[in-house]
This record gives sequence, C-alpha cells and structure tokens, in this order.
Amino acid sequence: MNIAVIGSGGREHSVCFKLRQSKKINKIFCFPGNAGTSKIAQNVDIDVLNFKDISNFLKKNNTKIVFVGPEVPLVNGIKDYLEKKGFFIFGPSKAASRLEKSKSFTKSLCKKYKIPTADYKSFNSMKGVKKYIDNMSAPIVIKADGLASGKGVFICKNKKAALQKCKAINKGKFKSSKKFIIEEFLSGEEASYFILSDGKSYKFFGTAQDHKRIGEGDTGPNTGGMGAYSPSNIINEQVEEKVKKQIIEPTLIGLKKMGCPFVGVLYAGLIIKDNQPKLIEYNIRLGDPECQVLMMRLKTDLLKIILACKNKQINKIAINWSKKKAMTIVASSKGYPNKKDQISEIKNLENIKINNNQYIFHAATFKKNNKIYSSGGRVLNSTALNKDLRSARNVCIKMLKKINWKEKYFRKDIGWRAINS
Ligand code: AMP
Ligand code: GLY
Repeated sequence: MNIAVIGSGGREHSVCFKLRQSKKINKIFCFPGNAGTSKIAQNVDIDVLNFKDISNFLKKNNTKIVFVGPEVPLVNGIKDYLEKKGFFIFGPSKAASRLEKSKSFTKSLCKKYKIPTADYKSFNSMKGVKKYIDNMSAPIVIKADGLASGKGVFICKNKKAALQKCKAINKGKFKSSKKFIIEEFLSGEEASYFILSDGKSYKFFGTAQDHKRIGEGDTGPNTGGMGAYSPSNIINEQVEEKVKKQIIEPTLIGLKKMGCPFVGVLYAGLIIKDNQPKLIEYNIRLGDPECQVLMMRLKTDLLKIILACKNKQINKIAINWSKKKAMTIVASSKGYPNKKDQISEIKNLENIKINNNQYIFHAATFKKNNKIYSSGGRVLNSTALNKDLRSARNVCIKMLKKINWKEKYFRKDIGWRAINS
C-alpha cells in the first residue's frame, strides 16, 4: 500500500520514520518534504495548498491514504476536497478545523458545554474594550482570532499594553483577522494532551511538554518550540479523568451535534493548577516538536491506526506506548526567531549514528548537489528514547554536538523541570 504525508517539518519526517517501520507500506510520498524525508520517502514538489495537483498525483500513483501534518491545508479544506474524490484523509474537515482556526469558535463551544477555560470576551472593534480591560487585573492575555503560527498571543503586563495590542490587531496587524479576544491570565504548568478520533469514538494518543521560549531557563521570545519530551509528568490519573470528561468528550459531542465530527488527532493545550486542568487552546493536528517524541514512543503500527480510523474502528485496536521516555531537542539557526533566515551547509550529518532509538529528524533542510543545507529557522530535531529523561537528553546533546554546522544553536536544558523534580 502507498501513503502520502503532507508537510515538510520535523513532525512530518518523524511520521515518515514511523510509517517506514510498517511492513505493509510500499511507497511514502511526502509533499513537499525535506532532505531528511527524501531518504525514506519520495519527496513531491507540489504546494500543500494545491489540492488539484495533489489529487492528480495521488491518482496517478495509486495512493488512497493521506496523512496531513500542518494546520493550514486542513483549515483550507484539504479533507473536504480530497475526500470528494475518493481518498481517505487522516485529519479533520474544514468545519471541524475551526477548533484551531478560530479562538472565538472554540471559546463559544467551551461556554456552551461548560468546558473549563480562561474567562474571555471576543471583540470585532474597539467598542467596549477599554471598559472590559479596566475591570480586569494584570497580566492580561490578548489573542488574535485567526491562525498566526503561534505569534498571535500576547501576555500583557499592564492594562495600557493590553489596550495597545488590541488596537494593533484591530488595525490589521494579522492578515487572518481583525478580531481578537481578551482573556484572563491562567497560572499553572502547561502540558499537551493528545487523542485521536475516527468520528465515532476516540483513543488516548499520548502526552508531552514542550519548551516554546528560545533561551535556556524558558526565557526570551516565543518560538514554534525548541524541544519537547514525553510523557508529561504532571498529568496524573485524576487530572486525566478530568481532561477526558470535562474537556475532550464535550468537545467531540459538540462537534458531532454541529454535523462536523472530528477525525484525526486533536491536541489540547492545557494549563494545570491544583489538579484542575483548563483548556488554553486546541490544535487540530500533532504538535511540532511534540510529534517527534510521540512517534519515538509509539509501539503500534501507525498505518494500522490510520486504517482503523478510516474504518471507524479505533475502539477495536490497542495503541501501545514504550514505557521509556523520549526527548527531542531542536537545533535552530543562530539568531532565530528574530534574524532573517540564511542558507548554510550542514556538513557531516551522514556520520551521526541513527537507529529506532535515536534519530535526527529534519525540518528546514534541503539537498543540492549531494550536500545538505539549512534554509534557517528550526532546522533539525535530535531525538532519543531512553530509560529516563536525563539519559535521553544526553544522547540528544551528544548527537547535536557532533554535527558540523556553523549556524547551529540549541538549548541544553530541555526537560529541566521534570529532570530536577
Ligand atoms: P496559544 O497559542 O493559545 O497556545 O498560546 C500560546 C502560549 O501563550 C501558551 O502556550 C501559553 O504559554 C500562553 N497562554 C495562552 N493563553 C494563556 C492564558 N489564558 N493564561 C496564561 N498563559 C496563556
Ligand atoms: N509545538 C506547538 C505546536 O505545534 O503548536
């Protein structure tokens, strides 16, 4: 059987790595992929939003199953388009993707089903904003309402800064929307909880914690994620029960009632305090770099899971995880996330020993004349599975240190809270 993977990041490389372990898979096509995926899959140079060309390619290459990594094609309706043509898409429809696309959609669902989340109000204009902010205490959270690649959330230290952010968003700082929400600040520890659903039932699909800030000690600007580990050590049984009953189940029921049942992976971003989880946001896909650590720990054949989802039978299969701990450390180019991306050669990747317990997943890399280049941003993910997080981290760092790349930057403290606790 052939399968397609849409996307080109570390997440998609780790999905290809996992799919490659399936004996039933013949060809993996990655749209458009990176230098890493090109070694285990066939990269196809078609834009992820060019649904027509993707469809024609899949038809010609006898491929019926499509795994979608990033949110943008999902939010733009890749599932709706391709399923009309007879393909199966592992990922949600355009209507169900509103969970990630629109914060006000998710917030109103939370209100309707009493899902624990921060108090908030949505605004289309500046009318009533000052009065609302005046009644809050700082810090105050301001969020742009459309997709903003993680850059649309502002934790404002005082009321003046909050008001300025609202004005900037309302003036069009983000192309996706002028709408914004003002939200209560939640304190506590963050964790990511994943489930997968076939539209009928759902299964647990792992937990992780990521580090969003660029600097050690979780300092400096936010990024797409500088490292992650799995499992999360703050989701105990009591918290998990609450996550399922108070957050996941009402969400899935709510979507079903709206006529858009969720198919694919749903990622709940949580803040936990005093054993009470609250929803910060939903993502309608696996996280990047969280996916890399989940794929390392996943023992069940990923194709089997995708096919069970297609047949609406995920309640009939067991999904097994390694009891070991997984960590991934992102290597970005120096100056990220502020500096403009620059192309530079990564010299000796071929010399790094990789296997099913330690692997370098590529993100922003490409191959030219048999050399591997970074195109900047988050570039490599050094990933390891080991008996504990400290040992996993040592392996990740050892691999990274060996790489001969002058633009290399990475954090050495990923997992510090869990390792020191
Ligand atoms: P989001 O894109 O909604 O996940 O927000 C990005 C990051 O902002 C989260 O991972 C949190 O660290 C932080 N954040 C978002 N909403 C809140 C909130 N209500 N209280 C505290 N921190 C928040
Ligand atoms: N690492 C966060 C995300 O994928 O949204």
